[in-house]
Amino acid sequence: MKAFILKDFGGTENLIKTEVPLPVVRDDEVLVKVKAISINPVDIKTRLGKGQADRLKDFNPIILGWDISGIVTETGRQATSFKKGDEVFGMVNFPGHGKAYAKYVSAPEKHLALKPDSVSHEEAAAASLAALTAWQILKDKAGIKPGDKVLIHAAAGGVGHFAVQMARVLGAYVVGTSSGINRDFVLSLGASEHIDYKVQCFEDVLNNMDFVLDTIGGENTDRSMSVLKPGGTIFCIPSGACENIDERAKARGFNGSTFRVHSNGEHMKEIGPVANR
Ligand SMILES: NC(=O)c1ccc[n+]([C@@H]2O[C@H](COP(=O)([O-])OP(=O)(O)OC[C@H]3O[C@@H](n4cnc5c(N)ncnc54)[C@H](OP(=O)(O)O)[C@@H]3O)[C@@H](O)[C@H]2O)c1
Repeated sequence: MKAFILKDFGGTENLIKTEVPLPVVRDDEVLVKVKAISINPVDIKTRLGKGQADRLKDFNPIILGWDISGIVTETGRQATSFKKGDEVFGMVNFPGHGKAYAKYVSAPEKHLALKPDSVSHEEAAAASLAALTAWQILKDKAGIKPGDKVLIHAAAGGVGHFAVQMARVLGAYVVGTSSGINRDFVLSLGASEHIDYKVQCFEDVLNNMDFVLDTIGGENTDRSMSVLKPGGTIFCIPSGACENIDERAKARGFNGSTFRVHSNGEHMKEIGPVANR
């Protein structure tokens, strides 16, 4: 089958389109004919030798990518959730070796969900890692509930634009930051307020927030804490940009946490109906 293998960590010229054997389908896996993939910041970081590079460096070949949408063509002996011909989507083996930049991907069935009919393969692939991140943080970890005041940074970005919609579905009052050009987009997703981070300091106009999703990190994290109510919660997600956030938050009377998304087909199943709204 055709796949893009990563010759060395580095630039895009190191991604080589080549012929590799079809993946072996383990008992708990299904073979998916890939119709679409999506590329996230972690793909780029990993290609450059950061992100997941440490986990992948001893594989040969390395095939990047985690987000897929496609059609089941084969099922492992103990894989019973899907049948041949089912359209599925999901984030495969993250953290780990997803091998998504390929014509076929063998994926644990528990990492996948049925693709909603109303969503294209392209849309479904794009609603995997980014959507899972937002869902796992807002629903699972933070337990956002109706009436919570939630600040989403980079609300027009991959994670942020899902987070705005999901926080609204969970009943929160949502404020989103983005540049001015994306204002209407962020409001159309369901944010009640928009702040253009290029012209306004969000801490000048916000206070008493229950929760902040910080997709930026660095000094943005400390600034974000200043808009939290006592006992409020902040999650910071860019790897390497959220140093000691738990201690820093605790010292100021808040809950602070980093987070890493993980493959989970049950969560993918929950995201499907949200994507359908
Ligand atoms: N830990 C995890 O499990 C996990 C999972 C997913 C992603 N991440 C990380 O989270 C980060 C975001 O990922 P993503 O996929 O959402 O990225 P993305 O789609 O590339 O988002 C970029 C967005 O950031 C916005 N932005 C830049 N500076 C900003 C600022 N100071 N304030 C507000 N918005 C700003 C830009 O908005 P405008 O275009 O409007 O200017 C742009 O839309 C990345 O570092 C990624 O690696 C971590």
